[in-house]
Amino acid sequence: MARRKKIYEGKAKILYEGPEPGTLVQYFKDDATAFNAEKHDVIEGKGVLNNRLSEFFMSGLNAIGVPTHFIKRINMREQLIRQVEIIPLEVVVRNTAAGSMSKRLGIEEGTPLPRPIVEFYYKDDGLGDPLVTEEHIIAFGWASQQDLDDMVALALRVNDFLSGVMMAVGIKLVDFKIEIGRIWDGDYMRLVVADEISPDSCRLWDIKTGAHLDKDVFRRDLGSLTDAYTEVAKRLGVLPTNVTHPTKPTLIN
Ligand code: C5P
Repeated sequence: MARRKKIYEGKAKILYEGPEPGTLVQYFKDDATAFNAEKHDVIEGKGVLNNRLSEFFMSGLNAIGVPTHFIKRINMREQLIRQVEIIPLEVVVRNTAAGSMSKRLGIEEGTPLPRPIVEFYYKDDGLGDPLVTEEHIIAFGWASQQDLDDMVALALRVNDFLSGVMMAVGIKLVDFKIEIGRIWDGDYMRLVVADEISPDSCRLWDIKTGAHLDKDVFRRDLGSLTDAYTEVAKRLGVLPTNVTHPTKPTLIN
């Protein structure tokens, strides 16, 4: 059997050549990293959960007319996506202060923000993905003013959709990160949501208890990451409620 061609391997995913031109297969690994890959672990089942959750969010966005790269899920760990030209920016939308914004500006975590705040970070692991302004983005040619306006509009539509979906299952969408890509159709270009949307890239807090249901569980050693992601998946109806994820063998003393 011919081996398929690997196009790119990142920290949590691998991209393979797709079955048709302009498509790719996105494979979700079990690797978890944080703090620019200084902290790393393999968490059995994480890739399966993120594949399902990203499918759920992306297909929901497609259904309401917010374009994404997602075509269909292929199996437990893989999905078929459109090939895009990734814009080298991480687009973060924040509804509540947390994480790096709280640190940078000294705002207590959990403080509601007066309106959603959109931030851009330049994707460069060597530099630790620094926060950049629109001036930097335009001056260095990472995106045009038109692209930026479209990216903000896209990010805010994603925020409205995700906030509503999460609110309906008792979860607060604190913040999230998306990546955006270009798809060319002859001379015509459009922007689509790319990469993944999962608890790896969102901050999700249980509305009643404040419990973290996202990658902060791993970053801050707050317990089982798969339990947290499984809880999100169950509430969204992505997993039947009686399914438990595979656990590692446990030593009994
Ligand atoms: O760390 P920070 O507070 O800036 O993260 C904001 C949001 O973006 C969080 O939901 C985090 O999970 C996400 N993020 C990400 N990938 C990064 C940096 C942040 O998914 N490289």
